[in-house]
Amino acid sequence: MTDTVSAEQERREADLVERVARSFDDCTDPRLKQLMTSLVHHLHAFVREVRLTEGEWAKGIEFLTAAGHITDDKRQEFILLSDVLGLSMQTIGINNEAYGDATEATVFGPFFVENSPEISLGDSISGVASGEPCWVEGTLSDSDGQPVAGARIEVWEADAEGLYDVQHDDGRTAARGHLFSDAEGRYSFWGVTPTPYPIPYDGPVGKMLAAVGRSPMRASHLHFMVSAAGQRTLVTHIFVSGDELLDSDTVFGVKESLVKKFERQAPGSPTPDGRAVDGSWSRVSFDIVLAPAGT
Ligand code: BEZ
Ligand code: FE
Repeated sequence: MTDTVSAEQERREADLVERVARSFDDCTDPRLKQLMTSLVHHLHAFVREVRLTEGEWAKGIEFLTAAGHITDDKRQEFILLSDVLGLSMQTIGINNEAYGDATEATVFGPFFVENSPEISLGDSISGVASGEPCWVEGTLSDSDGQPVAGARIEVWEADAEGLYDVQHDDGRTAARGHLFSDAEGRYSFWGVTPTPYPIPYDGPVGKMLAAVGRSPMRASHLHFMVSAAGQRTLVTHIFVSGDELLDSDTVFGVKESLVKKFERQAPGSPTPDGRAVDGSWSRVSFDIVLAPAGT
């Protein structure tokens, strides 16, 4: 609390906080009561600390209203806001506690689509997506080091234009798919080498980023969601080592452990599966460790 207000002003402000907090006294759901009471304390503390003006309060309401107006079943501006404020990553961290050497989780993002095409091990998810071919391979194991067979591995990524298939207006499905780990827990597929792209910045969140001098760019990445019976579902990405955006990813999604070497291969280099590839290609290895369900 600021020390520039009189004792009487301080008493009035603190009294209001307490009265609002007490309004939840009869709430019969203890968790809801805790959430609402704590939220009120933190919101009031913010307003009092910054001495919020009525004009700033109105701007905030205008911002949230605009976020509501642009939100529909495809565009979720409130999640985007949570992402750029680091709240999504904080919540993910709290809910995916470190467990042995289990692979770290990161943001889900808005571009996952249910019912992606199934591919066989070693096949390509790329379809018509533009980009340099990239061979992705690795293993899945549990926290005891045992292979996890039959895990469902969803993968999705942007193309070389920085767009996911759903951002093109031709209804394409490209650069996404799912596959299953084999009996030894291995997986492999062809995708495209990830490139950087901006989060959707044509709405209020984009305006806010511009106003505060922040870039909307995400570090280059490839999304994974891995689910297997008895294991905690892992939502993560891998990032490209050497990418200059690693330190400024606009949604704070980068974790050191998820930065991988994408090794560029010269045109004509033999491919792991004998596939003919025009021009250069890259390869990356990503071994995934799953934590047990319920941890
Ligand atoms: C993404 O990686 O797809 C993403 C994540 C958070 C916000 C916007 C996009
Ligand atoms: Fe993404």
